Amino acid sequence: MTKRFGILSVCIITGLLALALQGCYYDNKAENYGSAGCDSANPTYTKNIAPLINQSCIGCHGSSGASAGVSLTTYDLVKTYAVKGSLMGTLKQNGYSLMPPGGKLSDCKISQVDKWIQNGMPQ
Ligand code: HEC
Repeated sequence: MTKRFGILSVCIITGLLALALQGCYYDNKAENYGSAGCDSANPTYTKNIAPLINQSCIGCHGSSGASAGVSLTTYDLVKTYAVKGSLMGTLKQNGYSLMPPGGKLSDCKISQVDKWIQNGMPQ
């Protein structure tokens, strides 16, 4: 009896793990192909870039005590780094330190910023 329950719980745990992993898989897929909070179709500063920066960068690049003297609080400031190349450079760790330092943004978010710059950085 005990043995049967043992096997049963292994099955249940495996099942739950499979579901959890599948959930993650679908989340990532949704994120990489638009929808679910990351729509890279026609990014604008107000709709996409500012929220992304507020979420992932402003803690260190806010108005007071900005890391490396880099403040990302306004459209004009963000545009300066975009034009200079250090915005994409840091996101892709391409010739610059990786930003955010804790770990790369999702591919979708990085292409969102890329697209925004290519489109002429619409406000
Ligand atoms: C945990 C704090 C922290 C977070 C979060 C953070 N940064 Fe930074 N950032 C730094 C530090 C520290 C430096 C200086 C690092 C260096 O020069 O190696 C820096 C430097 C930079 C630079 C200047 C790079 C150069 O060499 O000219 C840019 C641009 C930048 N960050 C953009 C961003 C962006 C965009 C985000 C959000 C996606 C972000 N950072 C998130 C701490 C942070």
